[in-house]
Amino acid sequence: MQILDGTATAASIKKELRNAVDVRKEKGQKIPHLAAILVGNNPASEAYVGAKVRTCEEIGFESTLLRFDTSITEQDLLNEVQKLNQDTRVDGILVQLPLPSHISEDAVINTIAPQKDVDGFHPISQGKMILGQKGFLPATPYGILLLLEKYQIDISGKHCVVVGRSNIVGKPMSVLLARNAHPGNATVTICHSKTADLPSITRQADVLVAAIGRAKFITKEMVKEGAIVIDVGINRIEDSSRKSGYRLVGDVDFDEVAPLCSYITPVPKGVGPMTICGLMKNTLQAVESNE
Ligand code: GUN
Repeated sequence: MQILDGTATAASIKKELRNAVDVRKEKGQKIPHLAAILVGNNPASEAYVGAKVRTCEEIGFESTLLRFDTSITEQDLLNEVQKLNQDTRVDGILVQLPLPSHISEDAVINTIAPQKDVDGFHPISQGKMILGQKGFLPATPYGILLLLEKYQIDISGKHCVVVGRSNIVGKPMSVLLARNAHPGNATVTICHSKTADLPSITRQADVLVAAIGRAKFITKEMVKEGAIVIDVGINRIEDSSRKSGYRLVGDVDFDEVAPLCSYITPVPKGVGPMTICGLMKNTLQAVESNE
């Protein structure tokens, strides 16, 4: 069993990005600038946005963090997004999800200028992805492809089972695994909460992607010997032995599943750092496509 080390892989991609920024500086080109919007103070969202801003600093990108109270109206938030759309200093925009329930996430995502949609959530980005046209890939599935690439894992002809059908992970992941590209060309099954006899399907997976959002949902009975397991979940569970009172676990019961696998991503330090790489690579792409 080999661990797919997201932190180490991310470090090598961040080095490439840092070099790209240095070259741009030498040539007098624009430094990539990512703007993040955070509404409220959900601790997980705070942590994710904090990591994104810190990564910008590490690789030499400029960043702006706009914070708003949960009481902000949908219209005011849409106006803030419009302002960033029009701000020529800003190349990429991300709005951290989830948003408070009185704000339509679809309305906010649809307002982001497609050429600045570095999270790859806009219908134009997702449409281009489905059609195989160049655009921004959703950050988490993109990060997973980068991880498979770095470890030279060939998924062509393999059976990939994606558990979860969210717009930001499950749905785009299933499309990307099946497309005629590298990594790609897999046979894909997408499962969800209404799937009958889920274990009988996950046990057929050569590559199992768990994006359900439920702690330790995937148990050893659901995994085939030798499978490659990609765990997208980041769940907080109580842990009184920790100073914080919690620890992070994935959607996979790592301790019992890992011994069965050929490769597995840990949580933390697996997919999480790779999502940030996907976002940063998209931000560099945004500035390059403007030239
Ligand atoms: N919430 C959970 N994952 C993500 C992500 O990749 N981007 C944004 N903006 N919000 C998220």
